[in-house]
Amino acid sequence: MAVVKATNDAIAGAAAALAEGRLVAFPTETVYGLGADATNGAAVAKIFAAKGRPRFNPLISHVADLDAADKLALFDERARLLAAAFWPGPLTMVAQRRPGCPVSDLVTAGLDTLAVRVPAHPVARALLSRVGRPIAAPSANRSGHVSPTTAGHVAADLNDAPAMILDAGPCAHGIESTVIDVSGPRVTLLRPGSITSAQIVRVLGYSPELSSSDAERPSAPGQLASHYAPRARVRLGATTVSAGEALLAFGSSPPATSGPMINLSAHADLIEAAAGLFAALRTLDATNVSCIAVMPIPETGLGEAINDRLRRAAAGR
Ligand code: TXA
Ligand code: MG
Repeated sequence: MAVVKATNDAIAGAAAALAEGRLVAFPTETVYGLGADATNGAAVAKIFAAKGRPRFNPLISHVADLDAADKLALFDERARLLAAAFWPGPLTMVAQRRPGCPVSDLVTAGLDTLAVRVPAHPVARALLSRVGRPIAAPSANRSGHVSPTTAGHVAADLNDAPAMILDAGPCAHGIESTVIDVSGPRVTLLRPGSITSAQIVRVLGYSPELSSSDAERPSAPGQLASHYAPRARVRLGATTVSAGEALLAFGSSPPATSGPMINLSAHADLIEAAAGLFAALRTLDATNVSCIAVMPIPETGLGEAINDRLRRAAAGR
């Protein structure tokens, strides 16, 4: 079993494995990532193989700090404001690739823009400073499965694909980074995430535009409708539970049920709900019910990102 506690020695071993072109799964503050040296196309290809992921979905390059990010892409004034406010942290910025940027095209799926993020998790930061090059890392799950928030989830999904799985316990946020496009004249929110639109407005002074999430359009990738689908069907807005359904509850008064039930937050706390969302979907899916009924969750703050994930899960494969 490739799961190892994320000690300094293990981090050094993981950095060496990455430099040799092998895959390493590592914790971030959002979800566990499946990392490869972003400048090594063959290493990046192993990510797609391990995940069984559609190629037109480009990957995020993770770096240790803004200096490292500046070597890869062109960050203007708006991007610098956002970086100052949210890096290190769960914000990914899509910007124009810098000429001579060493990141493999496989990472960008051929686009002339690059998604970059500086994670805040101490293990991710230690690993990135050790490797000294950008690490491409999608969430460390098979494509179409829910994102992993523990090392155990990674091991269950990917077996021996990563040379090593660095274990630092459960992820704090449990929902992926917010992806914002700053490559053009308009700032566009491509994926809601841990940083809310309200937080972004406070920094920019205006709202990012919402992207149309058209699953077929390669210029708006990452919006594959089925990306977060569990095996079971997902029914949203449920206020009652039918026989044979599992219940994903939210709040203090879930409907009565004799089937499997997980409450994301009995006191309706969206942060708690986000942190447990993927694990709850996984657990309910593993009970082999045909349908997961999900109670309504408010569209405010982190509720935006939670509902976005749930709608994708409900869209099916
Ligand atoms: O929290 C996270 O962001 C996690 C951790 C591991 O850092 N990573 C993650 O990566 O969620 P992934 O590959 O599952 O999601 C990357 C997102 C996708 O929606 C992808 O389409 C978008 O970023 N993306 C990447 N490059 C892009 C680009 N050049 N233009 C537009 N979207 C891009
Ligand atoms: Mg993912």
